[in-house]
Amino acid sequence: MGSHWNSITYVDCFSGPWNVRSDDLSDSSFSIALQQLRKARETLKASNKSLKIRCLFLESDPHAFTRLQQFTDSIRGEEVRPLQKRLEDSIPDILDFIQQGGQRAFPFLFIDPTGWTGIALETIAPLLKIKPGEVLINFMTGHISRFLESPQTETQESFRRLFLSPEFRDRLQGLARRDREDATVAFYCEQMKKVGLYQHVCPSIVLHPEKDRTHFHLIYATRNPKGVEVFKTTEKKSVPVMEEARGEAQKRKREQRTGQGELYVAKETHDPSYVNGLRQRYNDLAKTRVLEILKRKKTVPYDDLWSETMALSLTWESDLKSWLREWRKEGTLEFQRMKTNQRVPKLGIGNVVAWKESG
Ligand SMILES: C[S@@+](CC[C@H](N)C(=O)[O-])C[C@H]1O[C@@H](n2cnc3c(N)ncnc32)[C@H](O)[C@@H]1O
Repeated sequence: MGSHWNSITYVDCFSGPWNVRSDDLSDSSFSIALQQLRKARETLKASNKSLKIRCLFLESDPHAFTRLQQFTDSIRGEEVRPLQKRLEDSIPDILDFIQQGGQRAFPFLFIDPTGWTGIALETIAPLLKIKPGEVLINFMTGHISRFLESPQTETQESFRRLFLSPEFRDRLQGLARRDREDATVAFYCEQMKKVGLYQHVCPSIVLHPEKDRTHFHLIYATRNPKGVEVFKTTEKKSVPVMEEARGEAQKRKREQRTGQGELYVAKETHDPSYVNGLRQRYNDLAKTRVLEILKRKKTVPYDDLWSETMALSLTWESDLKSWLREWRKEGTLEFQRMKTNQRVPKLGIGNVVAWKESG
């Protein structure tokens, strides 16, 4: 972003600090964001580009806000504004702050609430519509799934506000466990896409540290495929890191339970079959979708197949390329509009994939 825009406006809508371990708050999301933005500014500086950093940090809790303000008071060199307000009451403040950044500022919003009311599409719709702009949302999938069936009218109404539609009930009807969870995330992504007119909304699964189940999804919305490339590259790199951390957490838990220290390091004993199974599941799903599109449309821009593949967790461009290579080897498809030195299609240069097999 920094090479196209001269300023970045970063908004953390639920800043905290919350559950931090450090005294200097360096493990809070706002501090991490600031550290990363400064790093990006330094990188750009090396190529003679300057980046202005502007941040708006929202926090409603008075105690947490005092700590946040102590942190922001010590900041020099960036425009950082703390605001003690509830997100629900701050939409005009956020829009104003973003507008004050001017035409050359790119807004990026992070929404990380504790429950699901903070990400209700009914509330955040004006934020999703900001253009240019991108949003990263923490969707507490495990928590949400547990309450979806609640017969309470109030809870059902909160879900209607979350999805901005009562249709979620029909969508989830008859689905169990993982199918149901996937459908919940997919429906939220679909609705986000509609509300914000995004080209891409990508969920990335984050597993529970101690159990083989979903903890939450990070959902990223963008109008630029470059953003998806960065998000997916990061997801791919983060899987081994997540698995190592889960291995450590599970080892700690076993040691607490048994009162005995384990001989082997977690890396050697951790069983990756859960995450591998999930990756296989989303790969199979994406592959089936890509095949269906190819069989139906016959001639498809590579970029469309890429978008379809990126819309699922744990699926990467390298997966798509391997399916395409496999089908080409079998003689069922060919690549078109390729440059002379190209062997596989590439994003953004007009390559086309054509299905040859009839039926
Ligand atoms: C999950 S924590 C955020 C954690 C932070 N992003 C991090 O990773 O360090 C949610 C924060 O939002 C605050 N909060 C709760 N309701 C809020 C609201 N309606 N508007 C703004 N902040 C709120 C809470 O006090 C808490 O500090």
